[in-house]
Amino acid sequence: MSVQANTAASPLAPEWLAVPADLNALQEPLWAAGVQRNDDGVLAVDGLSVAALKEQFGTPLFVMDEADFRARARSFKDSFDAAFADICGGVDVYYAGKSFLCTAVVKWVEEEGLRLDTASGGELAVAARAGIDGARVALHGNNKSDAEINRALDMELGRIVVDSLDELERVAKIASGRGEKAKVMLRLTPGVHAHTHEFIATAHEDQKFGLSMAGDSTDQAGLSAAEEAVAAATSYSSIELLGVHCHIGSQIFEPDGFALAAEKLLRFLAAMQEKYSIVMPELDLGGGYGIAYTPADTPRPPAEIAQAMAAVVRSTCAELGIRAPRISIEPGRAIVGSTTFTLYEVGTLKTVRVDSPVSATGKTAETEAKNVTHPRRYVSVDGGMSDNARPVLYDADYSAILASRTSTAAPQLSRVVGKHCESGDIVVRDVYLPEDVAAGDLLAVPGTGAYCWALSSNYNYLARPGIVAVRDGSARLIVRGETEEDLLNRDMGV
Ligand code: LLP
Repeated sequence: MSVQANTAASPLAPEWLAVPADLNALQEPLWAAGVQRNDDGVLAVDGLSVAALKEQFGTPLFVMDEADFRARARSFKDSFDAAFADICGGVDVYYAGKSFLCTAVVKWVEEEGLRLDTASGGELAVAARAGIDGARVALHGNNKSDAEINRALDMELGRIVVDSLDELERVAKIASGRGEKAKVMLRLTPGVHAHTHEFIATAHEDQKFGLSMAGDSTDQAGLSAAEEAVAAATSYSSIELLGVHCHIGSQIFEPDGFALAAEKLLRFLAAMQEKYSIVMPELDLGGGYGIAYTPADTPRPPAEIAQAMAAVVRSTCAELGIRAPRISIEPGRAIVGSTTFTLYEVGTLKTVRVDSPVSATGKTAETEAKNVTHPRRYVSVDGGMSDNARPVLYDADYSAILASRTSTAAPQLSRVVGKHCESGDIVVRDVYLPEDVAAGDLLAVPGTGAYCWALSSNYNYLARPGIVAVRDGSARLIVRGETEEDLLNRDMGV
């Protein structure tokens, strides 16, 4: 059997992965604005090196660039305000806390003029602890408990986004029992299927979220669940119906899906106005704006998406002859995702040899002819699926870079894996790293601000990492990492 030399481009690499011209360079647009290499080659945020961060906080560690978070939040607010200024005087931007939430982030969001979208009593607790004005908070969820609804009313939330007819009745009853009026939006499913992973696409019919807009979705011929909810909402004296909401999915690059959903919901608002003389003043178009996890991803700047959406809202309202509702959006990932990288320390390394990938017709001619195998290097780090479940859950791709130094060694196709007892415990499926990566080196994985810490677990009794925010060259823990003590102190020992 012949063994192929370790050439730069590996036949095992996916098509989208090019061999970087310079392995030490940070590839745009994966990184936060404040991340670059110091003069000594060590990766740094705002000049603060990862070596210093490791020294002070250990690894694994989520490292967030606070100025970058604030800039991205402002960029959404400013771009959407500008695009919609002449339509509805601007846009309310609700940061989707499910992507990453802690009290520091709530404060940044508020200071940058945004609002907050929550999805559970726990997220409301963070909002309350941060001291944000309840009027600037929304509550989502397809199965809110009575306690969560009561908490929303206690906090005098700006909006409860009601997900079903069942829930509408419950909110009405609870509010009525308190002698209050609940401010309600109705979550609709406009039937727009955005191109994203099945588990994060949410506006098609066959799923748990929202009220269907399809004419046959209730027992009454021609009446949709959405329409029935509007009629019911206006019949309750304890409900103030603000408007309708939709969220078509997540990690979406093209503005068309958002624009189409906006058009459908505007037509719905116009129909309700005509049929019942109900004028709803608000339209929430949800979140879902994509980011770059690898150089193959090509997200659009917020301004471009805002303009495409505004054009459709403007023309649809003109066509329907209705006054444009106040628009709101709920970006999560696109604000926080790229602000953060995860810092890991390299441990065990091993190289395996793998046959050329099998094509649809069977083995490649090359493999059949020469029995050629190709190297893939497994680089184990000190975290894994417990701090980033996205590769396991959604086949998500990431990228990685040698962070503690530069290297002139040749590129080697590598797979960054965690330390859990599962072969699916992959952090970065395919990446070129320098051949001389060794135990003790630090790796940085960009784009881990959204849905990584938020989805983290204690699998194999690993302690969840802390999160540091770097600002003006100094770092502070905004969430401390767990200790062994934390892990053990809920074990009742009986
Ligand atoms: N609004 C609603 C009602 C949502 O359900 C979501 C996300 C958002 C806003 C924010 O979406 P974003 O802008 O962050 O895409 N864990 C998955 C994503 C789940 C999204 C859940 N809902 C992932 O890691 O890809």
